[in-house]
Amino acid sequence: MSKVEHTPRVFSGIKPSGGLTLGNYLGAIKRWVDMQGPDFETTYCVVDLHAITVWQDPADLRHATRETAAAMLASGINPDTSTLFNQSQVPAHAELGWIFNCVARVGWMNRMTQFKDKAGKNAEKVSLGLYAYPSLMAADILVHHATHVPVGEDQKQHVELTRDIAAKFNHDYKVDFFPMTEPVIEGPATRVMNLRDGSKKMSKSGESDMERINMTDDAATIAKKFKKARTDPEALPDNLEALKGRVEARNLVDIYAGLSDTTPEAVITEYAGAGWGRFKPALADLAVAKLAPISDEMSRLMDDPAEIDRLLAKGAERAEAVAQPILEKTYDIVGLVRSRK
Ligand code: AMP
Ligand code: TRP
Repeated sequence: MSKVEHTPRVFSGIKPSGGLTLGNYLGAIKRWVDMQGPDFETTYCVVDLHAITVWQDPADLRHATRETAAAMLASGINPDTSTLFNQSQVPAHAELGWIFNCVARVGWMNRMTQFKDKAGKNAEKVSLGLYAYPSLMAADILVHHATHVPVGEDQKQHVELTRDIAAKFNHDYKVDFFPMTEPVIEGPATRVMNLRDGSKKMSKSGESDMERINMTDDAATIAKKFKKARTDPEALPDNLEALKGRVEARNLVDIYAGLSDTTPEAVITEYAGAGWGRFKPALADLAVAKLAPISDEMSRLMDDPAEIDRLLAKGAERAEAVAQPILEKTYDIVGLVRSRK
């Protein structure tokens, strides 16, 4: 069976599991916006089935699903040219996920560092879904025959697993059906760190709100969080080499570069010799200038949840038109009798 030929297709997803952070924006959403255009077909998904691998209050989940979609729209995802939907509405994802549970090996899952981090000492008590999650992620990508997956650094291992699953499926069934997906981990801010502890990733679920910038934070909160961000006493050097080992300082430089669409090199050249008293307020002003219009637009969109649902439904129909035929071919390859066609 030959591969389905098409324009290179981008797929990526984000969990509606709480508010979105500057890490989600710089590491994912902003880059998804930039990949829209003639070079790729772009499909972006609010992965609600992934969110419930850990407990989600149903009302909070509904809110976060719409808010995540609103964040994407407000950031510039165009629902006419990109396919934007929530995962649960296209059942082919979960169905291919099951097939991949039967392709992926337990030994592969045991190597997933994100599972080990999340499960920690509690590994016996977490959901089976949390353990199987990377195989559902592989299904998300491959049910669209996606070739490019823009993600933050923390997702690299999962995209590599996706390639392993595709290769094993193709090998076992002697087909060239699923494409080898490329992770796209580019730009200055693929791993935005916690503002209070530069050894940890900025995440939605950290203990203190001061360690992250939320996409919905107001100007005063953003300024306060950057002001209190942990740094060291030294001024900024004139080259990146000299930032080695100064993880918190490097993180702020990378955030600045990500927000201003330049490189960390350019930032360090501009701010060579600057102390934190100068750099932090400049960074806060920049973050407010970039995020305020987005959060204003998010709240405008959230005033009309029916309109968000309408856009998501339209996206789900488009996604299903791509995913369902790929699922059906997969069933045929595997030998599942499609008695209802
Ligand atoms: P999640 O919120 O875990 O669903 O992540 C959604 C996307 O945001 C993924 O592509 C992540 O890699 C990316 N992401 C999340 N946190 C960060 C971070 N601190 N820095 C860079 N990218 C991130
Ligand atoms: N696992 C990703 C995360 O936690 C979210 C995700 C689910 C995803 N399915 C995907 C990302 C498919 C890219 C492609 O961030």
